[in-house]
Amino acid sequence: MSQATKEAGLWTAVKELPGNFWSSIFRNPLPSSDLERASTSFTNFFLHIHPVKVHRNTLRPIYTLGLGLISFFLFLILMVTGILLMFYYVPSTTQAYDRMLDLRGSVAFGTFLRNMHRWSAHGMVAVVFLHMCRVFLTGAYKKPREFNWVLGVGLLLVTLFLSFTGYLLPWDQLAFWAITVGTSIAGYAPLVGQQIKFLLLGDATVGQEALLRFYVLHVAVLPATLMLLIGVHFWRIRKDGGLSRPEEPANLAVRVTAVPVEKAVEEKKRTYGLVGFVRGPFTKIGNIPDNSVYSWPNLLMAELFVFVLTVAAILTLSLLFHAPLEEPVNVMHPPNPAKAPWYFLGLQEMVSYSAFWGGIGIPTVFVLLLLLAPYLDRNPRGVGRWFARERLLANTIFITLVVVKVIFIVIGAFFRGPNWSFVSPW
Ligand code: HEM
Repeated sequence: MSQATKEAGLWTAVKELPGNFWSSIFRNPLPSSDLERASTSFTNFFLHIHPVKVHRNTLRPIYTLGLGLISFFLFLILMVTGILLMFYYVPSTTQAYDRMLDLRGSVAFGTFLRNMHRWSAHGMVAVVFLHMCRVFLTGAYKKPREFNWVLGVGLLLVTLFLSFTGYLLPWDQLAFWAITVGTSIAGYAPLVGQQIKFLLLGDATVGQEALLRFYVLHVAVLPATLMLLIGVHFWRIRKDGGLSRPEEPANLAVRVTAVPVEKAVEEKKRTYGLVGFVRGPFTKIGNIPDNSVYSWPNLLMAELFVFVLTVAAILTLSLLFHAPLEEPVNVMHPPNPAKAPWYFLGLQEMVSYSAFWGGIGIPTVFVLLLLLAPYLDRNPRGVGRWFARERLLANTIFITLVVVKVIFIVIGAFFRGPNWSFVSPW
């Protein structure tokens, strides 16, 4: 081969390098046919968690409200900001608070980073709880999704504990006394209460041992547990046949093939109350008979939309509001009243009536009822619709419990003053 031919070959290889590199990662061109859409979902590592097609109901924003996805994206934001915070933080009672001040005073974007982490954590507790309410009120916990609901209850508990363990780390007055109150509630458990408290604190009171334990739980044990549970939760969604949806009207599948497509579309619209969003430019009429659409790009675009919205909300909150940092810990000066984190204020309020029943008895019964709900509620009707009439009793009980819980939190947050006496917030 002549020198000139060799050089031309090399030049062509260099020119084609970007394209060849790209296609070695992404084996499919941008999909333009149904076959390519399908293959994009299962040949991409990040996308293959998606099924090739999803039922249209899955994409109705008004059905899921995107709450499960928002929970997941908040967790991702927490992981990223948490890892960055770990570069500066030291879990030592003599250094932790100073590191918080450093973050505020001398680390570029340190305050902003901490704000993002703090607001995402609060947001995640609230959104996971709301997601659970959505799942209950649409009857989505019923067969075959009972076990995914049980996993969900585990996710809720781990999320609460993750947020609680993080609360101590700044080592300021707010952190110290909130955790002192929180862990003393655990001490009310009969027989094993004090042992559980000691296991958590590594000592009789909140101190260096507790800070180290909370740190290890917060940065390693609980995030790893949550990741595992989320992985199984997502896997189960697929194995359970995708998200819940209303029962198909009888014989619809048969009639769809017999009636003109446009008429079938109208009928589906009446059944599912389809919103325009779902029928974007990518949604093909050919997908109508089995009521599904290709995950690429329909589901992907919806997910991207929720992701951008979540990030934008956290960025805005973090620009507008600073995460609190009070005075450094002073074990001789408890604030009066010393309050638990807001999501445990309902517990603290109940504890003020009865230490055992408020702190242990009722919460245990509540968690057991949550875990058993799909096995106790055998009524198969009313799945896939908000507030279905067939589920009036179950929904009424659930809403009542949620309202009572919220009332207790509001009382604890705004109506309790020194020595836990009633005060007016106005
Ligand atoms: C870290 C916490 C959680 C994450 C990241 C998460 C994520 C998700 C996502 C992305 C979905 C599908 C879309 C959606 O419904 O928004 C989903 C569905 C589901 N989740 Fe969760 N979830 C969490 C906690 C929970 C909790 C606390 C429960 C209930 C106690 C729960 C029970 C379910 C069930 C049963 C489904 C299927 C719903 C259906 O088929 O309509 N999840 N979850």
